[in-house]
Amino acid sequence: MNAPATPADTLRTALAGLLDGLPPRQAAQAVERLIANYRGATPTDAPILRDRADVVAYAAYRMPATFAAVRSALAAFSDAVPEWAPAGHVDVGGGTGAATWAVSDTWGGVRPVTVLDWAEPALALGKEIAAAHPALRDTRWQRSRIGAALTVDDTDLVTVSYVLNELTPSDRAALVDAAAGAAQAVVIVEAGTPDGYARVIEARQRLVDAGFHVAAPCPHSAACPIVPGTDWCHFAARVSRSSLHRQVKGGSLAYEDEKFSYVAAARFPVAPAPSRVVRRPQIRKGQVLLDLCETDEQIRRRTVTKRHGDLYKAARDADWGDPWPPADE
Ligand SMILES: C[S@@+](CC[C@H](N)C(=O)[O-])C[C@H]1O[C@@H](n2cnc3c(N)ncnc32)[C@H](O)[C@@H]1O
Repeated sequence: MNAPATPADTLRTALAGLLDGLPPRQAAQAVERLIANYRGATPTDAPILRDRADVVAYAAYRMPATFAAVRSALAAFSDAVPEWAPAGHVDVGGGTGAATWAVSDTWGGVRPVTVLDWAEPALALGKEIAAAHPALRDTRWQRSRIGAALTVDDTDLVTVSYVLNELTPSDRAALVDAAAGAAQAVVIVEAGTPDGYARVIEARQRLVDAGFHVAAPCPHSAACPIVPGTDWCHFAARVSRSSLHRQVKGGSLAYEDEKFSYVAAARFPVAPAPSRVVRRPQIRKGQVLLDLCETDEQIRRRTVTKRHGDLYKAARDADWGDPWPPADE
């Protein structure tokens, strides 16, 4: 008997179906228009996702990547709070609902879910896609503008993925404060760029100031050791490329790596990783070089050699973003 489809599988199938009946040229043109809009000056005064063609393009082209990034952040978060699962979820600036799928894929089960966004076409398409997954069928898709007047109902988990980028500094602050005021746990994901990292670090500080404990990716809630402007903390999630991706971007690679920055924090006690691999490990003959963010607020390069026995084997399997040492070492 086949294993039941995971939410990730169901989402992939549902997104592939969106393009059925849409001539490939038209789909590619919609994506190109969307990319051009996103290149324009953000924040904007009005939604970028204006009509169905925009949101179908967004969902088919970007949602697999935003889903993968949020899923990866949630995996790290759930490792730090192994006994916890959210009893409710609000996704702010949720668009077509990528984070609702990632939450469902992480914890399973059914919970009240609300998606807030100001773009009606995105909410409508999100609802349509969610019909494919019983656990998301009762999701509330609610029109809401992020700003000083934003209210978020009390819930266990608030997610904010790829949204801070589209907001003014004061709206970003209002959103993080509203999330901190409403939730037991907040997970924020941004693009893995220097600017995305800067927005995450600013939000992280607001959460800490509001009494939250950082659960991931950092091993502590103290200041980030990265000197602003010299580097940026980010990770990568592997995403299969669809034929639409190949058409828009050219090339024949079967996958690409979505780079993202994130912070996951909770009001309740958390058990963050003792340290985390913050760059792609370098494997040399008989040794592995790991760049680790450590509990004492430093990033250090550690060399693990054959002499370390099982730890060396674990280092060879370690991936960028993993906790170190692995939980069972
Ligand atoms: C890049 S999309 C991300 C969507 C989704 N969170 C994801 O990860 O795929 C940004 C979303 O933020 C929403 N947004 C931007 N500014 C907003 C505002 N001021 N109020 C409400 N929603 C906003 C947009 O409509 C859009 O759906």
